[in-house]
Amino acid sequence: MGVLASGGGSILQAILDARLPVAVVLVDRDCGAAAIARGAGIPLEVVERVSYLPDRLAFTHAVVDALRAHDVDLVAMAGFMTILDKPVFDAFDGRIVNTHPSLLPSFRGAHAVPDALAFGAKVTGCTIHVATVEVDDGPILAQEAVVVGVDDTDSTLHERIKTVERRLYPAVLARILEGDIRL
Ligand code: GRF
Repeated sequence: MGVLASGGGSILQAILDARLPVAVVLVDRDCGAAAIARGAGIPLEVVERVSYLPDRLAFTHAVVDALRAHDVDLVAMAGFMTILDKPVFDAFDGRIVNTHPSLLPSFRGAHAVPDALAFGAKVTGCTIHVATVEVDDGPILAQEAVVVGVDDTDSTLHERIKTVERRLYPAVLARILEGDIRL
């Protein structure tokens, strides 16, 4: 599979720790996830979002080409911060999965954790789902709740959610690869 990331890469690290077969890590910027891939000796593709601005379609085609070059047949988004266009969902039809730090359909988008806090949610969590061209949409594969504490900040709450994601996401990916979950 190919893993798409833009951030610190702790979810990528959990996927690697679970010994899942990662053929390539693709990042849209230099980031912690890129350093993790380099350190682990996993092939790395850097498709810089800024090099393609504002052309989302051309960026998406570059991502598809890079994934195809590594014979990827399952794509795992792990904190990838660029919205991709239709061609990637055509190329890997129903074979792109994502982890999102809220209980979808609540709190879609890039600010799910602060949005849940600002709304006063008492429970949030994470969702593993099939990614579609609509952002943070698509069939839900797994969810787990996280209780919001009265003293939580964005970072303490996100870290507790990520602790769950690091366990749940590799487990779901393993079940997909084993054919136990059919996409
Ligand atoms: C995760 O919470 C993921 O759900 C969100 O970005 C975070 C990635 O964390 N989309 P990391 O960069 O893997 O630590």
